[in-house]
Amino acid sequence: MSNASQDDNAVKGKKKLYVKTYGCQMNVYDSERMVETLGGSGYEEVSTPEDADMILLNTCHIREKAAEKIYSELGRYKDLKVEKPDLKIGVAGCVAQAEGEEIIRRQPLVDLVVGPQSYHKLPQLEAKAGRGVKALDTDFPEEDKFEYLKARPKAKRGPTAFLTVQEGCDKFCAFCVVPYTRGAEVSRPADRILTEARDLVERGVRDITLLGQNVNAYHGAGQGGVWGLAKLIRELAKVDGLERIRFTTSHPNDMEDDLIAAHGDCEKLMPYLHLPVQSGSDRILKAMNRKHTAEQYIRLIERLRAVRPDIALSGDFIVGFPGETEQDFEDTMSLVREITYGSAYSFKYSPRPGTPAAEKGDRMVEDHIASERLQRLQALLTQQQREFQESMVGREVKVLFEKKGKYEGQMVGKSEYLHAVHADVSDVNIGDIRTVKIISSATNSLRGEIV
Ligand code: 5AD
Ligand code: SF4
Repeated sequence: MSNASQDDNAVKGKKKLYVKTYGCQMNVYDSERMVETLGGSGYEEVSTPEDADMILLNTCHIREKAAEKIYSELGRYKDLKVEKPDLKIGVAGCVAQAEGEEIIRRQPLVDLVVGPQSYHKLPQLEAKAGRGVKALDTDFPEEDKFEYLKARPKAKRGPTAFLTVQEGCDKFCAFCVVPYTRGAEVSRPADRILTEARDLVERGVRDITLLGQNVNAYHGAGQGGVWGLAKLIRELAKVDGLERIRFTTSHPNDMEDDLIAAHGDCEKLMPYLHLPVQSGSDRILKAMNRKHTAEQYIRLIERLRAVRPDIALSGDFIVGFPGETEQDFEDTMSLVREITYGSAYSFKYSPRPGTPAAEKGDRMVEDHIASERLQRLQALLTQQQREFQESMVGREVKVLFEKKGKYEGQMVGKSEYLHAVHADVSDVNIGDIRTVKIISSATNSLRGEIV
């Protein structure tokens, strides 16, 4: 864009940025950082693409048809671009990383492509792109992007926040693109995380979820040496005003003793854990390169429950991994029955280009069989979730209230176990933590009254 049109924009006031986020919580965190960074280039966020001077899609590549979905979304912006030739369209995230220049070749509407490790360069890329000039950056640079992505100081925010502490993954599960799109495992230095957490708390945050593709592999530089996740959590717990800490998502093999212990003795660490197992069959776990057995996972959960009996467990499952037999699938069902989850995510296997499972060409499970297995697994998981929700009725939980509910006088918040809880309230403010007695339950939420 020329200086003249930049000046025009400055005269007209703020430029408008529309961000659409796909996929995981880390993308949500990244989108927030991108909005804040582009704030420095004069952008403010808007909620519809029609109002925007720039549209940014923050994409996810984890499962099927991700790239196709993005191309079809981009196609929808054609008329907007005709109406507003200065409109800039950018693609960020894991599809940007995986597809690179191909995106611009296939969809010339796109002005800018930026991979997850290059977000701090967005202001330069944005300044360069537009009116036929393309800007692309999918490098894995040496510098710490988070240092360049600092939030606007003191801007108020809601009571919950994500905080990325580690990125990338070295586990190379055979089905997963993350090690390729997000790169090698990198942990942020502990002091930067503590500073960011203190800043968030000053801005009103009381509940922080630490994020990482494999967050419990965290091993950041800290005072006195390398800190693991447990040490980081214990230090964060000393931050006054920070009331709740969670982390997601984890690999069973990185669930070390001190982290298990923290679940028993660190009061601010909430009794909720998302610990994906993917399959209950040792044969499939081996083919997935998970490097643990079903039995080892079950023992691990026993140890967690020994220190924190009420911990709510969540997981991820893949059905129809190449070579999965009916017996393998039954082993997954047995594991689910044995563990009992409070909530879980389950997916049909989708071959991701470039991953070992997709390249090996093992016998694929027929689609109708995989679909039918997924239905059976989801029915079991939904039943467990319902029973878990039901078991809360009559109990008292502590709810951190996050926002107004749908109805007058109602507010919604989260229990320690991450249930959504609705309550009729009169003197409760957003950010308050109050004891609530649960009076009824549904599959996805609870209703209660303030005690
Ligand atoms: N197919 C289906 N599900 C997948 N996941 C990751 N890769 C694939 C794939 N190729 C699921 C895993 C992971 C979650 C984030 O997404 O269960 O834990
Ligand atoms: Fe992907 Fe998680 Fe396995 Fe890493 S541990 S390769 S992010 S599924």
